[in-house]
Amino acid sequence: MRRTLVLGLVWGMLGCSGAGEPGPQGPTLPVVEAGAPLDATFAARAREIARQYKAWGRVDDELRWAPFLCRQPMPASAHVSASGHVDTHGQKLYSVFVRDRERYPADSQVGQVVVKESFVPEPVEQAAPFDQTTAQNVEADHFHPYVVKDGVTYRAGAPAGLFVMFKLSPTTVGTDRGWVYATVNTAGEVSAAGRIASCMTCHEDAEHDRLFGVQTSPY
Ligand code: HEC
Repeated sequence: MRRTLVLGLVWGMLGCSGAGEPGPQGPTLPVVEAGAPLDATFAARAREIARQYKAWGRVDDELRWAPFLCRQPMPASAHVSASGHVDTHGQKLYSVFVRDRERYPADSQVGQVVVKESFVPEPVEQAAPFDQTTAQNVEADHFHPYVVKDGVTYRAGAPAGLFVMFKLSPTTVGTDRGWVYATVNTAGEVSAAGRIASCMTCHEDAEHDRLFGVQTSPY
């Protein structure tokens, strides 16, 4: 309790001291281990990805990918992370965007990019209804930022940064068989890019060539 209070005060004070410091919302996320690589070329690509990914669409947005389903197509939803790792994806809600959705997750080619947006879960009484205004526009971003876990409804609250993976040729030096891992903090800065050890401990065991493969339908 006391520790939280002290930390809160420290962040509050840093918030006033200018560029690069954590803002009034506290420290920027996600957190990676000290000494994680920050390769300049990979970081430049990650910055570019952070500017572009929204246009690719969420992997589970049926209003975009399957608007002619025989049941009513649903907007993308928030998901609860299965990762138990508190510092990285753990205890967060997420939504995933993919550059080449047709080939996700089992057939990643050079050029594939996957971006996982993460959010702080915010318990709410009930989900607000989905705003249908953009439902007819296939290209729009359709996101219903709610999920129910153990009977509690959560809303995707404050953004907690981007987890990015992009694939280059498997022979590229400094990659994990072609995959580059990167993190982009809530201030939009690339905080690490390359072979990030903490990412690799989990993703090396993932089923589809380093990818876990998240749900491609909202429910
Ligand atoms: C403790 C294990 C763990 C660590 C550490 C981890 N991940 Fe993940 N990651 C997962 C799991 C499990 C998923 C599947 C979605 C979920 O449940 O969160 C996932 C999903 C993803 C996805 C969505 C694509 C997919 O299908 O796998 C991306 C992108 C991603 N992680 C990037 C990263 C990056 C970048 C790091 C390091 C900063 C990282 N991850 C660290 C376990 C981990």
